[in-house]
Amino acid sequence: MKILITGGAGFVGSNIALGLRSAFPVAPITVMDNLYRSGSELNVTRLQAAGIRFHNGDVRHPDSFPEEPFDLMIECSAEPSVLAGREGSPDYLFQTNLVGAYHCLEACRKHGAGMIFLSTSRVYPVARLEAHPWREEDTRFVWRDDGTVGLSSRGVSEDLALDGARSLYGYTKLSAEQLIEEYRDTFGLKVVVNRCGVIAGPWQFGKVDQGVVALWVMAHHYKRSLQYIGYGGTGKQVRDCLHVHDLADLILEQVRDFDAWDGWLGNVAGGLECSASLQELTAVCQQVTGNIIPIGSVPETRPSDLRLFIGDCSKLFQRSTWRPTRSIQDIVSDTHTWVCDNEHALEKLK
Ligand SMILES: NC(=O)c1ccc[n+]([C@@H]2O[C@H](COP(=O)([O-])OP(=O)(O)OC[C@H]3O[C@@H](n4cnc5c(N)ncnc54)[C@H](O)[C@@H]3O)[C@@H](O)[C@H]2O)c1
Repeated sequence: MKILITGGAGFVGSNIALGLRSAFPVAPITVMDNLYRSGSELNVTRLQAAGIRFHNGDVRHPDSFPEEPFDLMIECSAEPSVLAGREGSPDYLFQTNLVGAYHCLEACRKHGAGMIFLSTSRVYPVARLEAHPWREEDTRFVWRDDGTVGLSSRGVSEDLALDGARSLYGYTKLSAEQLIEEYRDTFGLKVVVNRCGVIAGPWQFGKVDQGVVALWVMAHHYKRSLQYIGYGGTGKQVRDCLHVHDLADLILEQVRDFDAWDGWLGNVAGGLECSASLQELTAVCQQVTGNIIPIGSVPETRPSDLRLFIGDCSKLFQRSTWRPTRSIQDIVSDTHTWVCDNEHALEKLK
């Protein structure tokens, strides 16, 4: 099988590429990326060292895709920040996440290839999530159970109603999901859609608006300051986290049995068991790095932010025996090991 991974020099794409390389030592794997994300260039060397071809291409421009045919595309290219497009022009966001997805679908159609698409939990509308009743515990906020369809203390399921705004980023991904559905219906394209929550682990070049776990680990390692932003500034907002190697394991299962997975659309997340508030994440980072850093407080909440997000993966667990196997401690510890091993290169990205 010939595999093309768009956005493959990024955090998720590079980890998937190397996971597939281990499973399929001789399969031709090509990674296409325009190196838009700062740090992605560091992945190119390790991908090439594993025998993965790098193609400098841009999903916004169909003529920059590789000429060679492929059997399966894994679409990981994106401007993945939820704040993208708010300041200045949203053009890059739309051209990459939406028009780029269209070009990726067209490339798949041209070569008769299937697609695995990395979508996001950000497709769920912000106002609905924010309006759901919650309570405050010592270190975190917790959702209450009130009988809402698709939202409980265990998280958000695919049954949650999708009306309402979700951020420009979330909109581009939901629109891409809908375009994919049309391509399945019109052209019989085989596609798998994974709606991912927070993904974390080694080779994530974290920044304030994307990649919070890596940002937290690096700040502790390099003894930089951080801020709890929003919801009163106490750091009680919660996310679930999925180790990128757990995600790579699921993608491998989907690649191996692609025809059976065709048509899948659902949540892929760490779930309640692998969730943490920022306060709790700080405690794990302190324990793993041995460092305590100053953490400021900004009470005002940023636009499109969420008090809580946890993905309910019941649908996935009915479909597969796959389960997340790595804990928050594992995620922080593996990320820290990566930072220590690449200290010099990463410090330049500060
Ligand atoms: N990281 C997460 O927590 C998370 C959560 C949910 C969904 N996702 C989705 O997973 C996918 C991968 O995200 P990531 O975390 O690896 O982000 P990333 O920024 O690390 O990787 C994205 C890659 O796409 C490349 N790229 C950007 N614009 C491009 C363009 N026009 N043409 C070609 N390449 C381009 C970037 O250079 C980067 O290498 C995205 O689709 C994102 O929406 C990520």
